[in-house]
Amino acid sequence: MGDKVVKYGIIGVGMMGREHLINLYHLKTEGVAVVAVADPHPPSQQQALNLAHSFNWPLQVFSGHKELLDSGLCDVLVVSTPNMTHCEILMDILNHTKTHHVLVEKPLCTTVADCRKVGKYKHKVIDAAKSRSDVLVQVGLEYRFMPPVAKLIDIVKCGTLGQVKMVAIREHRFPFLVKVNNWNRFNCNSGGTLVEKCCHFFDLMRLFAGANPVRVMASGAIDVNHKDESYDGKVPDIIDNAYVIVEFENGSRGMLDLCMFAEGSKNEQEISVVGDSGKGEAFVPENIVRWGMRVEGREGVKALKAEDDRIKYDGLHHGSSYLEHLQFLSAIRAKGAQALAVDLHDGLVSVAIGVAAQLSIEKGRFVTIEEVMELGF
Ligand SMILES: NC(=O)c1ccc[n+]([C@@H]2O[C@H](COP(=O)([O-])OP(=O)(O)OC[C@H]3O[C@@H](n4cnc5c(N)ncnc54)[C@H](O)[C@@H]3O)[C@@H](O)[C@H]2O)c1
Repeated sequence: MGDKVVKYGIIGVGMMGREHLINLYHLKTEGVAVVAVADPHPPSQQQALNLAHSFNWPLQVFSGHKELLDSGLCDVLVVSTPNMTHCEILMDILNHTKTHHVLVEKPLCTTVADCRKVGKYKHKVIDAAKSRSDVLVQVGLEYRFMPPVAKLIDIVKCGTLGQVKMVAIREHRFPFLVKVNNWNRFNCNSGGTLVEKCCHFFDLMRLFAGANPVRVMASGAIDVNHKDESYDGKVPDIIDNAYVIVEFENGSRGMLDLCMFAEGSKNEQEISVVGDSGKGEAFVPENIVRWGMRVEGREGVKALKAEDDRIKYDGLHHGSSYLEHLQFLSAIRAKGAQALAVDLHDGLVSVAIGVAAQLSIEKGRFVTIEEVMELGF
């Protein structure tokens, strides 16, 4: 693809798809253009068209992804459709004769079985991708790129904190937003709150722990939000608060504290990583990173405001979507010579931890990762 303009198509131009469109516009000088979108919802199509026109980008609009694929217009596709559609769309992309590189939004799929789908297709998503070595598939676990998180990852990877023993992630935020056709109100569409939302945090825990998860214990419920809502006579079943404990192969443990009725918080995410020699913390959106060594005590704690000069558009996710695209574009131009920042296996494991957590709440017991991987929940 060299230095020629890389042509993008966006499948699903709701809130996140349009966010990708705006991010890609800010990457225009890197040689990218969004040339097509696919979405069955006329208001989403129109909003994407309005944006593209304001960017002076001619845009082909399709109502389905298959027409977009067959148009042959695109080199790269962004899949930003509701979670339950990711599997089928990915399989169609992977089975298409034309090579399309893909950035698929998190969660990779809503179930482990879908991530490794057999179903009506001949191949599982991951196997299908393996048989298409010409196609690069990155999963949109973009929290890794958020400047304070990326800085904390650097501190941990440099060994500053010693061997990581505990990773605590607190997300205290506002309730789920309203989505097109309210798809996010039901576990069957989103995979459940701990898959949909928290795959980001399970992915980070695994990165910080530097090991794979073994088993998960969770407690959670729908206690405050969405209780007075009804869609076709059905009340939402998505939990709005939970504690989740994750144990890793190397003995590290992680804890997630999720509350979705906590608008009265200064930060939305607070991350703490403690190793045998020091502790690091990251705060979003304050963008503060702190770290200190046991031997130096409280007086030795250092702090910085994390920034990344490469970011030309902060958008809804503190510049992480911009950096995600920048990195993916570079991997595409490197034609496979550069490892993807987030691959399909990362996507699968982050879903598996979320699925195990959802199941743990349902069963009231520890659930092993082996269990969800083998039974393919
Ligand atoms: N990275 C993040 O932090 C982040 C943030 C928000 C959303 N997301 C993810 O982005 C995806 C989309 O979420 P959203 O908030 O934009 O939802 P949304 O409801 O605002 O938009 C979804 C769009 O997809 C369209 N759509 C539905 N089925 C389709 C299909 N088969 N083909 C093409 N288009 C289809 C809908 O009409 C709608 O316009 C989800 O997977 C979500 O988890 C990620």
